[in-house]
Amino acid sequence: MYSALIKAWHLLQNKKMFSVRTSNIKISVPGEKEFELVKQYVADFELDDREMQPIQFLIAFRCGKFLGFGRIRKHRGCDEFCTLGIVTTERKAGIGKQIVRAIIKVSNQPMYLACVIPKYFEPFGFKTVQSFPAEMQYKLNYCNAALPVGATYVVMQYEGFAKRATSLEV
Ligand SMILES: CC(C)(COP(=O)(O)OP(=O)(O)OC[C@H]1O[C@@H](n2cnc3c(N)ncnc32)[C@H](O)[C@@H]1OP(=O)(O)O)[C@@H](O)C(=O)NCCC(=O)NCCS
Repeated sequence: MYSALIKAWHLLQNKKMFSVRTSNIKISVPGEKEFELVKQYVADFELDDREMQPIQFLIAFRCGKFLGFGRIRKHRGCDEFCTLGIVTTERKAGIGKQIVRAIIKVSNQPMYLACVIPKYFEPFGFKTVQSFPAEMQYKLNYCNAALPVGATYVVMQYEGFAKRATSLEV
């Protein structure tokens, strides 16, 4: 089911359109209009809004309704999973889970994230780590300085990478 999504992620450089359906949810890269929506929600949810580009995002729709989004910032040697948000009325319904899984599928480098909700990410294979690339230290500093939420930010690494890398179809 996800192989089309993985291949499509690489086609993004050519700006080709793609989408994949998981159950009744459509996950795709945002077009211009959808990207405007993403930007509004990112501002509302006070998420990382630095240097956003449509091709970094995957968004979820159901029956024409915008549900949420997730983003990968690509660095030299690692992927940073960030800017994950679900429309408030659609939370706790498994949408975030589907976006996280899709992001994991399209990532093709060791992947890290910074968050205050490690318990949310642990079931997907992310583990809190003390050692991480300089890009993630920069991210941590940014979160602490620009996105204070009264909780402690941690850096997590996706530990399934080594296993998945051997089974990718692309
Ligand atoms: C965090 C967020 C993305 C979760 O999305 P969601 O669609 O509600 O999550 P899901 O329904 O897929 O939840 C999957 C599981 O995580 C649990 N969960 C949901 N929110 C959680 C949280 N904040 N902390 C820990 N676990 C959480 C759910 O109960 C569910 O558990 P289950 O599989 O045992 O039923 C969403 O609440 C959100 O957009 N929050 C605001 C923005 C934000 O905080 N983004 C993350 C920045 S790092």
